[in-house]
Amino acid sequence: MDQRLLLMHQTMLADTPRMRAYDQALQQSLRPGDIVVDVGAGTLALSLLALHHGAGHVYAIEADPQMLDVAAHLIEVNELKEKLTLVAGDARAVRLPERADVIVTEMMGNLGPEEEMAEVVRAVARRVLKPGGRVVPRRLITRLAAIEFDHEGWGLWSDDFHGYRLDPVCDHVEAAAHLHFFQREPRVLSDVVAAADSALGTGNTQLRPSLRLHLAQAGTLHAIVGYFAAELTGSVSLANFPSYPGCNWAVWIWPLRHRAVTAGEQIRIEVHRPKARAGIRLAGDWRLECGFVRRGEA
Ligand SMILES: C[S@@+](CC[C@H](N)C(=O)[O-])C[C@H]1O[C@@H](n2cnc3c(N)ncnc32)[C@H](O)[C@@H]1O
Repeated sequence: MDQRLLLMHQTMLADTPRMRAYDQALQQSLRPGDIVVDVGAGTLALSLLALHHGAGHVYAIEADPQMLDVAAHLIEVNELKEKLTLVAGDARAVRLPERADVIVTEMMGNLGPEEEMAEVVRAVARRVLKPGGRVVPRRLITRLAAIEFDHEGWGLWSDDFHGYRLDPVCDHVEAAAHLHFFQREPRVLSDVVAAADSALGTGNTQLRPSLRLHLAQAGTLHAIVGYFAAELTGSVSLANFPSYPGCNWAVWIWPLRHRAVTAGEQIRIEVHRPKARAGIRLAGDWRLECGFVRRGEA
């Protein structure tokens, strides 16, 4: 077994706010005896929560052969064969013997759509969700905002390093994004805009390839941050920004040349979403072209 895979799942289970959010969302969404489909079941964490909250039967779909072995072992040891059926394969293609009341999944990437959650859930829902069935999460949004780091990350290249300048490093910046875990919360200088918004289950995804950030306060613009916000239910949501202790997701940072900005300025952003290669769309390949809107420009 690849230990990195186990560690990845361990990190996800150790993310207490993530687990608490799903616990609450399933408690709200399930009725006694509901049939549940867990899409991308991994270590069965969400399947077990669903059983805990009264599911009558859970179909746990998993594509990774190593995680399937682990899940089969857990079902055996917990004597869950009657209540939990493990289904091997890509969730987009598997067939189930009955329709479900609830689909639950956690396939959010750092930016949201990397793991094609909306597309996978749409394919599953079309085949197995009962009319009026529920999907947890029900909505996934990718958000962008302009930020000033608090003396960390890309904000380190300042003009005062013990009296010397490090800011010329910014001249070497490229448009590519990198992942970052905030140690200290940055200042958000602009409004927050949605670059992608998916209603899960219906598969309706709205992409905004051209958008504007309105700067709401003065500061030093360092970067654009990209992150996800998932609505698990009407009252339970989960986001990877601001970073919280134990958060297993990083955020994406598009570094910019540092620049002093004032409230009222606007940044124009063109979002170039990469084409899927072998079904995978890498978030690091998202490119943002940023420019300042000149005074008087529409
Ligand atoms: C982020 S993990 C979540 C695991 C578990 N549900 C949890 O919340 O801890 C996503 C899991 O989905 C599986 N997966 C990804 N795409 C899938 C697909 N198309 N069909 C079935 N499983 C998939 C991965 O192998 C991985 O185990």
